[in-house]
Amino acid sequence: AKYVMVDKDTCIACGACGAAAPEIFDYDEEGLSEVMIDHNTGTVALADELYDDLFDALDGCPTGSILVENCPFGEES
Ligand code: F3S
Repeated sequence: AKYVMVDKDTCIACGACGAAAPEIFDYDEEGLSEVMIDHNTGTVALADELYDDLFDALDGCPTGSILVENCPFGEES
């Protein structure tokens, strides 16, 4: 499984992730990206069929702000 979060401290609101993966990312009122399924908490597993879009977004983010883990964020692995 893949769990995804955006680090809003480093996101520069460039918008590439939402273009690559419109079903994963949305933007807050400041234009910073966030993961839709779990309000950017990294606790809900991403659907397998979105992995291609996820990896496109990862490649495209200029600041490396998209964080991906194999277990939920906040849990010890
Ligand atoms: Fe931010 Fe990177 Fe998306 S800078 S808007 S997380 S492509």
